[in-house]
Amino acid sequence: MNQQQKINLTRRSKYEASPLLSRARRNTVAVVIVALSFVVLFVLNHDDGTSNSTALRQKPSQSADALRKAIQDDDSVAAEKHTKTNLVDPEAKNNLEDPDEDEETHPWSWIGYLDKLANKDVEFVTSELKEYADGKTYYKSPADFLKGCKAKELPDKRCGFLGGPEDKFTAMAPHVMKVLHHLGMTESSRVLEVGVGLGRNAQSLINFLDEDKYCGIEPNGDMLAVGVAHMVGKKAIDEKRPMFSTNSDFDFGVFFDDEPDGNQLFDVVTSRSVWSHTSKMQNEKYLASFAKYTKPTAFLATSVIKVTEDCSKDYNGTEWVGKSHDANNEGIVIHCMPWIREACAKAGLIAKSLAEEAPELMKGDGVQKWNDLGQPWIVIRHDPSESQETPK
Ligand SMILES: C[S@@+](CC[C@H](N)C(=O)[O-])C[C@H]1O[C@@H](n2cnc3c(N)ncnc32)[C@H](O)[C@@H]1O
Repeated sequence: MNQQQKINLTRRSKYEASPLLSRARRNTVAVVIVALSFVVLFVLNHDDGTSNSTALRQKPSQSADALRKAIQDDDSVAAEKHTKTNLVDPEAKNNLEDPDEDEETHPWSWIGYLDKLANKDVEFVTSELKEYADGKTYYKSPADFLKGCKAKELPDKRCGFLGGPEDKFTAMAPHVMKVLHHLGMTESSRVLEVGVGLGRNAQSLINFLDEDKYCGIEPNGDMLAVGVAHMVGKKAIDEKRPMFSTNSDFDFGVFFDDEPDGNQLFDVVTSRSVWSHTSKMQNEKYLASFAKYTKPTAFLATSVIKVTEDCSKDYNGTEWVGKSHDANNEGIVIHCMPWIREACAKAGLIAKSLAEEAPELMKGDGVQKWNDLGQPWIVIRHDPSESQETPK
């Protein structure tokens, strides 16, 4: 036997001498392959590891695309067809599932703040949020927040519901800021944002405004806490002293003492993708609060699904439609301009589309530019012909 044959025999004897050992190795290899298959399947199903990160990668569903096209084409019949229940994306349900969660747990309670902040006053909510934000990673832009989500820096469901489609998430704050600025918001304006969501707009607003000027309402305490911690950030909370409420009654009075003086009243109120989910009753409460708790020169900029004179597709239900602190469905609603004008008139207010309010913006490709993020704006102001009384 030459030297090479000896080496070969040694190798064979090491690995093949025992049939038992050989079978065990084959079994081990099989187990490893099966385990790896499970890992691959898990990763495919769970995307980048955050339990709800599927939402981050989800392409807009066909229904949502169809709806957007219908709205662009001014085809309200098609828009109606793809409104409400038709927008439910079966995959989206996975975003709400967390294998570690007790089945009884509310789907929106990821970090326990939903109940903790419910029905509490502004002072309590604001100081709890400040405490929660302490030591949390601050993302200086919604784009960085998204990157953080994808890099698995944020656990659990904190990246799950972004408050709108992912492809518009980073573009929204600059868009909102441009609209509000054009309509007259300055650093010293007192601003209320209704429906803060994950805080993508709150971040820019708070950074832009002077101290003590920003107030935000968001009944989903978990979403608010995540947004305030990661996108508003502890430093801005300390320096700019924003205030937050979780009330779901569109009650702007929570930010005031019993007798607010005129200077404390809001100059600007804004909502993005909120009137696209509200009932008419909720809008009426919203308008009553706006009339009462804003200065005579104030304006409300709120986005709607569609600026339309056609009221035949209007939502007349009494409940919020879409995800919120107490609802877990998807959907959008339409409120026509004649109804909005009438509701405003009852509250001593006047409503206009952004195109009517600021026709200079709509020149050239302006209509597309100012409405291209999915929802056009309407602007509501006090009717100067109505006498303005100081709120009692
Ligand atoms: C589609 S999201 C938009 C969030 C945010 N405006 C943005 O653009 O990212 C609608 C938000 O309104 C909140 N919301 C639901 N009911 C509300 C109510 N009664 N008052 C104020 N906000 C509410 C939801 O929890 C959700 O965060």
